Amino acid sequence: MLKIENLYKSYGKKRVLSAFSMGTDQMTAIVGKSGSGKTTLLHILAGLLKPDSGVIAFHDTAYNFRSFGDLANMRYRYIGVVPQEYCLVNEASVFDNMAYPLKLHGVQKQETKKRVLELAEMLEIEDLLTAKPKKLSSGQCQRIAIARAMAHKPPLLLADEPTSALDAETKQTVIRAFTEYEGLVVLATHDTDAISAAQNVVSLDAQ
Ligand SMILES: Nc1ncnc2c1ncn2[C@@H]1O[C@H](COP(=O)(O)OP(=O)(O)OP(=O)(O)O)[C@@H](O)[C@H]1O
Ligand SMILES: [Mg+2]
Repeated sequence: MLKIENLYKSYGKKRVLSAFSMGTDQMTAIVGKSGSGKTTLLHILAGLLKPDSGVIAFHDTAYNFRSFGDLANMRYRYIGVVPQEYCLVNEASVFDNMAYPLKLHGVQKQETKKRVLELAEMLEIEDLLTAKPKKLSSGQCQRIAIARAMAHKPPLLLADEPTSALDAETKQTVIRAFTEYEGLVVLATHDTDAISAAQNVVSLDAQ
């Protein structure tokens, strides 16, 4: 269960989130027009950005925004992120990009290989494992970023417009991967198919 209570966030004089609250334990789509604060909210949920005030808890563990160490620990234990800009390591292979979170969690090589292959097949990127992201298309990079975020099976998966670079058919493959994902998925999206796949839809437009 993810609970957000009374969240406020401004950049200087610009208020982005105002008394925002929500609670969910099912796949949730955060919607809203460009500039409405979707990425801001996901960055806060990822523990990468401090709100001005408010309380967030995942599985009854409250985020401690006073400590970057605590936030990093929270991220390590619970959270996977698909950034809007993918943020892949361009010089490393696709396999290594996907394996990186597993390495951080001390997963053995054989198990890592198995998980990477399983995700690569699911997201239809198995032919790209030895390639480097700098030579790949946006839609390919987007799926690698999704696979990387899912690799260590984090119980909270945050994805920022994860279907924005995909054709209609590949989009369905990705949406299926999210709906079948075992943890709680929160995604920011404009995509009507992704919105329909979510059990909860939360709009930031009324802020
Ligand atoms: N680091 C920052 N400093 C100042 N203003 C910012 C910063 N990041 C975002 N903003 C502003 O906050 C508002 C919300 O931005 P955000 O990126 O969260 O929107 P978004 O809903 O994700 O938009 P998009 O759909 O275009 O990705 C925008 O008006 C943006 O200009
Ligand atoms: Mg955004």
